[in-house]
Amino acid sequence: MTVLVTGGRGLVARTLVPLLHEEGYDVRVASSDPTKLTPPGGVPAVRCDLGDPDTFPAALSGVTSVFLYAEPSHIDAFIERATEAGVRHIVLLSSSSVISPGTATNPIARMHREVEQPLTASPIESTLLRPGAFASNALQWSRAITSTGSVDLPHPNAHTDPIHEADIAAVALAVLADPALRGKEYHLTGPESLTFQEQIDHIAQVIGRPLTVNAVAEETWRREMTEYVPGELVDALLGWQRSHDGVPTETTETVEQVTGRPARTFATWAEEHAAAFKN
Ligand SMILES: NC(=O)c1ccc[n+]([C@@H]2O[C@H](COP(=O)([O-])OP(=O)(O)OC[C@H]3O[C@@H](n4cnc5c(N)ncnc54)[C@H](OP(=O)(O)O)[C@@H]3O)[C@@H](O)[C@H]2O)c1
Repeated sequence: MTVLVTGGRGLVARTLVPLLHEEGYDVRVASSDPTKLTPPGGVPAVRCDLGDPDTFPAALSGVTSVFLYAEPSHIDAFIERATEAGVRHIVLLSSSSVISPGTATNPIARMHREVEQPLTASPIESTLLRPGAFASNALQWSRAITSTGSVDLPHPNAHTDPIHEADIAAVALAVLADPALRGKEYHLTGPESLTFQEQIDHIAQVIGRPLTVNAVAEETWRREMTEYVPGELVDALLGWQRSHDGVPTETTETVEQVTGRPARTFATWAEEHAAAFKN
């Protein structure tokens, strides 16, 4: 098995590549800018920009399995080139947004569905990983926490199911390695539903100082966020928070069922990332 891991600078890809390498698989890491990668010794880095189909043939040459990020713009060309190259299995990093209520109008769900659908209709066996919210989304609070010790949120009691990226990578490794796990859809979550307030409380505990959460108007948060994120996505995030305010998120045991290890807790993630929240 020769595995191409796309999106090489991404959090999940950066965790998956060393796992595959340590297990002895022939792995190649691809990025839109491979000069920025620092792969383990002996792992080749190639250019594959999922927005530029001209980069697909060389990256896919000799590859039998792919870990794919969800970029819909040229997915048909990617599938065609992968089929020509002899790829037999693609593992897609999708999103649980595709199976959430209100999915028809959600742009995050739409983007992932636009990759899922052609993949599952293609002759290549496809495995869909559908994680909920990444624990690392909490890093968006690091600047506010380090500079002011407080975080502005429109819905502090909105729940998410924070999943550690290492668990997504562990599931990806398992489904790449075991043919019996392929061709399925996996809804991946962390072990518990936690409000934003509870996640910030965990961070306060690991950095050893109290943190304040300020409940702000949706419009205030929207204005701050649209400096960094397209307005359509901010609205989708706001809609999610509104509908999950005080409403626990459904969690699954899929990580443990697939990997044989319980999913890592948010507290573990916070301990590992404490430095990001300290001055
Ligand atoms: N965040 C969530 O809560 C969540 C929930 C469900 C699903 N997802 C899925 O997971 C994906 C994000 O995964 P991730 O966190 O592993 O990726 P990430 O860190 O957000 O990066 C996404 C991709 O952006 C590219 N990139 C461009 N410039 C970069 C830079 N300066 N630093 C890092 N990456 C850069 C990378 O690909 P190149 O190296 O090829 O440029 C990378 O794989 C989302 O796109 C979504 O499909 C996310």
